[in-house]
Amino acid sequence: MSKSKVFVLGSINTDLMISADRLPHQGETMNGHGFVQTLGGKGGNQAVAVSRLGTSTHLIGNVGNDSFGNHAISEMNRYGVHVAGIHVNDEVPTGTAVIIRVDNDNRIILDAGANEVVTSSQIDKYVKGGTDDYFLAQFEVPLEHVAYGLEISKKQGMTTIVNPAPAVAVADAIYQNIDYLVLNQTETEILAGIFPNNVRDVEQAAAIFFEKGVHAVVVTMGSEGSVYCDQQKTVEAAPFKVEVVDTTGAGDAFIGTMLYGLTQNIEIERTLKLASAAGALACTKVGAQASMPRLSDLEAFMKAQEEE
Ligand code: RIB
Repeated sequence: MSKSKVFVLGSINTDLMISADRLPHQGETMNGHGFVQTLGGKGGNQAVAVSRLGTSTHLIGNVGNDSFGNHAISEMNRYGVHVAGIHVNDEVPTGTAVIIRVDNDNRIILDAGANEVVTSSQIDKYVKGGTDDYFLAQFEVPLEHVAYGLEISKKQGMTTIVNPAPAVAVADAIYQNIDYLVLNQTETEILAGIFPNNVRDVEQAAAIFFEKGVHAVVVTMGSEGSVYCDQQKTVEAAPFKVEVVDTTGAGDAFIGTMLYGLTQNIEIERTLKLASAAGALACTKVGAQASMPRLSDLEAFMKAQEEE
């Protein structure tokens, strides 16, 4: 196991999930079922995903001084995430995601709450690494702080990974500090203007990001699997078939596992497969953080698939 540390700057949410047969029409109240309250937030989910695989992971983020926030900190601590960089704020509530699950897929409405109040001094204090270490961010905390975190991480020699979700157009300057950009098809369309349906489309979108300064691009394409591109090569991974219970957090499991592969210097072909397997496994359980696989789960799943 490598000694690399991972610093995650990101959101911490309480996910309130309810299943329904369809979405309600305007003005309609309808019955749903299967309500669950679980821990989420792309930052927290990805931190738990990396930590559960055995990598030293530090989360920098914010919660409110409420029962959701206190619960989030104690659960992430239990998952092995270093939580000193999580601040508790008296003025704002913990971020909340209302998730409606219809047809094995989800729709999310987010109130960022405390995720909005991250500060530069918090990033300065807790993002401290070197050339073996990694910095990961998503777009659920203010972009100016994502840009700042990337800048100081690159100055310290770290490798940086960005999952631009939820996607919004960003200034070109931010890309110069991104080594790995990991995104889905919709995010690719928003940021590169191309909705990738196949490998060729991914390569075209990746070329746009390379011009802006990104070193490698990974696009997740749901049932089409995932594609990695750098300026030398393209690698594809087929999706794994599982019985889907809840897709929430599957993308976060993929990203956390990609990062684990990077910290362990696992070759990219294997890393992409492991990440796809983690994404598939995360779909077999309800909730985001609770469904992040341990290394033993991942290895057992891979072994079973390889023996098939
Ligand atoms: O990626 C899934 C996550 O998005 C959920 O856990 C929810 O909190 C939103 O941040």
